[in-house]
Amino acid sequence: MNEFPIGIFDSGIGGLTVAYAIKKKLPQESIIYFGDTKHLPYGEKSSEAIQKFSKIITDFLIKKNCKAIIIACNSASSVAYNKIKSHNSEIPIFNVIDPVVNEINTLNNKKNIGVIGTKTTIESCVYNKKIIKKNKKIKVSPLATPLLAPMIEEGFINDEISNTIISNYLSNAKLSNIDHLILACTHYPLIHKKIEGFYNNKVNVIDTTNIIAEYISNVLKRKKMLNGSKKKTYSFFVSNYTKSFEESAKFFFKENIALEEINLFP
Ligand code: DGL
Repeated sequence: MNEFPIGIFDSGIGGLTVAYAIKKKLPQESIIYFGDTKHLPYGEKSSEAIQKFSKIITDFLIKKNCKAIIIACNSASSVAYNKIKSHNSEIPIFNVIDPVVNEINTLNNKKNIGVIGTKTTIESCVYNKKIIKKNKKIKVSPLATPLLAPMIEEGFINDEISNTIISNYLSNAKLSNIDHLILACTHYPLIHKKIEGFYNNKVNVIDTTNIIAEYISNVLKRKKMLNGSKKKTYSFFVSNYTKSFEESAKFFFKENIALEEINLFP
């Protein structure tokens, strides 16, 4: 079982930022990635729809013998994690929120934490609830930034369009006086530098992907589930082929990747 792959899924390319961090932290592990590009953006879908898609994808990854599943999407982690976890108790299921919430407690000067993410993530209030449960003194300032994920998915990262949208959102009064900013969407690490630049490096923009990879690596190590063999493979599936997905996967994995379109949804 240790040589079985880790399954990772997201609505599109965002989860590749998590997959890349896992690849760097655990280079001996095989990975199966599923991007639900047919249903992107999850951030605009109902909780019921996201739960349904997440269940179908999880079943697919389990059929592919995944030894653990990472829900590499904040929107799905917010509204589908509890259900997925309760229906799949035989393998570890990870969300991308708990590792970051744990990390918040270790930070200095954490009076006011900004959180940006999709409508689904922000409206679920999951970050507020989890952070305040651990430390009542922290103020959490959430802001939905729904244009960012589709903008990144379409490859607008370093141009006038993205600069205008990013600075428009970050100028919102809700985010004034924050000490740290959580990028609560797995697409946003792709514009991490831009966001840091907006704040002239005066706000700590939290590098969520490395925190997530570190957390997952520790759990798998503790459970003695790491791959001891030298053989590993990377496979990528999408529900709808897109050029930008293929290019992003090549960019992150620095090799000729095999990308397969597969229709899991009835
Ligand atoms: N990757 C998703 C997330 O982390 C954002 C993209 C989407 O809305 O599907 O919430």
